[in-house]
This record gives sequence, C-alpha cells and structure tokens, in this order.
Amino acid sequence: MSWTTKPSATTKIPTRAEPYCTQAMKDRWTKVLLPRYATKQGALLPILHDIQHEYRQVPYQAMVEIASFLGINPADVLDTVSFYEEFHTEPVGKCVIGICQSIACEVCGHQKLLDHVRVRLGIEPHETTDDGKFTLLALECLGSCDTAPVALFNEKLHENLTIASVDKLIDEAQKGTGGHH
Ligand code: FES
Repeated sequence: MSWTTKPSATTKIPTRAEPYCTQAMKDRWTKVLLPRYATKQGALLPILHDIQHEYRQVPYQAMVEIASFLGINPADVLDTVSFYEEFHTEPVGKCVIGICQSIACEVCGHQKLLDHVRVRLGIEPHETTDDGKFTLLALECLGSCDTAPVALFNEKLHENLTIASVDKLIDEAQKGTGGHH
C-alpha cells in the first residue's frame, strides 16, 4: 500500500507579477458593471467573460484577483468557472468550435460534423491545435434545436450545418477572417 498525496494539496498556482485584472478593467467594471447588479456577486459572470475574452482563459490568479475585487470567496469564483463551458482554466485557441451534441443535433448528424472537424484539425474535443488556432468542444443544447445541427464558432451560432459549411467556417477562421468576436 502506498500513500498518494492529493494533487490539490501540492499544486502550486502559477502566478505572475502583473495582475490579470488591470486597473483599466477594474475602473470599467466599477463604472459600468457594478451599478447594474444588486449585489457585487451579480457582476461575476460578465467579469469572467471579460477575462476569458482578453486572455482566452481564466487563470487561477485571475480568479483570486476577481474574488478580492468583488469581496467574495475565491472558491465561489472557481465554482462558477468550472460550471460554465465557456470558461477555461487553460488558454483556448483563437477560434473555439463548440459543436452541439444534444439530442436534436445528434439526430441531425452532429457526429459526422464532429468527426470531420476532429480529423481535419487532428484534435479531440477539449483539445487545442498546436498552433493555438482552434479548440474543439462538444456542447450541450445551444437552444436552437429547430435549426440543428448547430455549432458555435467563438460566440457566433451557425445553424443547419453541413460538412461543406463547417469547412468554409474553418477556412475563414484559418485565414483570420472569422476572427474572435
Ligand atoms: S440539441 Fe442542438 S441546439 Fe438543441
């Protein structure tokens, strides 16, 4: 029998001297976001969204900074980050492709699309290409079942997808015309 240490007890949180939540961001949050919510915690989602957008990830250090900005527990920030598919603790690619895998899309051939993207980009769901251009995700219902199969390319929803239309979207993203929204 051997004792194994829980990784969580020994994991070092990588930190950097420069804060992720810049003064400019905090000023904007204070001015624009906080007044919109009854509690400071209400501003957590839009703040996380800003950080994810800016850094393509929500690093642990940023969660600690956000917690102290909002006066809430870092564990609550972590809970929120792990709950939502759109937040990532590792950097994602410039183009995040999220293919819906729920029932309506499944019936309409999501697997063919997913397999096509997997093979074309050489990555499995939740992986990022080595050049940092693409991340592939399989998501739950995106609320557009009547136009299945659907996928998100960054924040933009694309409906009634075919292999040809997915290929076109990937081509555009590769050329940089798809861009990050
Ligand atoms: S099942 Fe895909 S959008 Fe609802």
